[in-house]
Amino acid sequence: MEIIIQPSAEAASTLAARHVARLVREKPNAILGLATGSTPLALYRELIRLHRDDGLDFSHVTTFNLDEYVGLAPTHPASYHAFMHENFFAHLNVPASRIHIPDGLATDIPTHCRAYEDAISSAGGLDLQILGIGSDGHIGFNEPSSSLASRTRIKTLTPETRDDNARFFDSPASVPHHVITMGVGTIMDARQVLLLAFGEKKAHAIATAVEGPITAMNPASILQMHPVAKCLLDEPAATQLTRRDYYRWVFEQKPEWQKV
Ligand code: GLP
Repeated sequence: MEIIIQPSAEAASTLAARHVARLVREKPNAILGLATGSTPLALYRELIRLHRDDGLDFSHVTTFNLDEYVGLAPTHPASYHAFMHENFFAHLNVPASRIHIPDGLATDIPTHCRAYEDAISSAGGLDLQILGIGSDGHIGFNEPSSSLASRTRIKTLTPETRDDNARFFDSPASVPHHVITMGVGTIMDARQVLLLAFGEKKAHAIATAVEGPITAMNPASILQMHPVAKCLLDEPAATQLTRRDYYRWVFEQKPEWQKV
């Protein structure tokens, strides 16, 4: 994994946006894997700015989101459909027909999950997956103990994740127990992965994922096996990394073209 520590979440998000923008310019029909949560918001804002001010064109881009809550209609304000519309799709030109988000109201969930996997494969596979990380190390909604080879499926949230995400709901009790999420194996098939983590609350999960052993108890740790995984952090999220000075030094020594 390439560890890039930036002075602020804003700076890390700008770097991440530059990386995504370069991919979209080089490959206008790129297949992007998108994430929700507060972490990618600044990255999305910067991509929207690049679309508005620099003409970054998303009209041939296809997107697949990581996950959705089971039981929430796309119109529910806490659904990931609503989140993505409000924070991303409403502001740039990805055609609706190219947007894919798991359907929280699917009646036959296993069939829906297989179709989601098939749609990713038929599109040509994910060129780049954007990820945040849960405080317990989850990616997508792959909670600790998830199979590291898993594919898109239904999962049950841990109490910790339900608590973490309660802020998006009217009350803690209304956070759904179940979700549909791309699997760890689905994420690992992406040709590149950008993992973003900001704030001290993520420091332990990041240290375990980056410097700990690969274990299903921290699903993000499997990214150590990914050939092109970049981990963009702000200072607080990097505080528990024992080799953080080395990671900073490596990044500073890079030629400009090799920086994100
Ligand atoms: C949810 C999402 C994850 C996200 C995580 C962290 O669980 N399913 O994709 O990474 O929240 O959220 P935040 O970025 O708000 O800390």
